[in-house]
Amino acid sequence: MKNIVVLVSGGGTNLQALIDAQNRGEIKGGKITCVISSKEGAYALERAKNAGIPAVTLPRKDFPDSKTYSEEILRELNNQKADLVVLAGFMTILDECVTKAYPYKIINVHPALIPSFCGEGFYGLKVHEAALAYGVKVSGATIHFVNEQADAGAIILQGTVEVANGETPETLQRKIMENVEWKLLPKAVSLFCEDRITIRGGKAYVDV
Ligand code: GAR
Repeated sequence: MKNIVVLVSGGGTNLQALIDAQNRGEIKGGKITCVISSKEGAYALERAKNAGIPAVTLPRKDFPDSKTYSEEILRELNNQKADLVVLAGFMTILDECVTKAYPYKIINVHPALIPSFCGEGFYGLKVHEAALAYGVKVSGATIHFVNEQADAGAIILQGTVEVANGETPETLQRKIMENVEWKLLPKAVSLFCEDRITIRGGKAYVDV
C-alpha cells in the first residue's frame, strides 16, 4: 500500500473526491495517510477530520520565503513516509528541494488545459477569468506531475468541458470541477498507486 499525502489550502473538494473514491474502493494500491494544509481553518481540514484522516497545518504565512516553507513541508513528507504527494488545490509553489526529493511522485490538478492558462499567477478563479477573457470555447483540467517549473511537469490525464454563452468564472470553475477534476484526480492517483504510469523521454504514459 502506498502512503498518499494530500496537500490542501482551501475548500478541499478535490480532497473530498479522493476520500469518496477511496471509500468506494477506487484507489487501488494506496491509502490517504495524511493531509497537510497551508492555511489554518481551511475547510479541507474539516473534511479530513470527518473522514478520520490525520491532518497537519503548516501555515505558509509563518515562513519568510518559499525555500524555508518548502524545507518544512519536505520534513513533514519524509516524516509521513509519503510515497505519493497530491496537490489538491494547494496554492503555494514548492521549492525545488521538494520537487527534487520526490521526482515523478508529486501530482497536481490544474483547472485548465495545460499549456494554456497556467504557470505562476494562474490559480483558482484567476484561471477561469483568463480563459473567459480570451474567449476559449473549450476548457478543462490537467492532472500532471510536478517538477521545478510551475505547471510544466509531464501530463498524466486531461479532460474537457464546453464553455457556454454567458459562462462566468464561477460557473466554469464548478463545471470543470464536477466533470473533470473530481473524476480524473482520483483516477490518476489510483493509476500511480497501481504502478500503471510509465515515464519515457520526460512524458507520462498510462499503461492500458
Ligand atoms: C481547484 O479548481 C483546483 O484545480 C485549483 O484550485 C481549486 C481548489 O479547489 N488549483 C489550482 O488553481 C492550483 N494551481 P478545492 O480546494 O475545492 O479542491
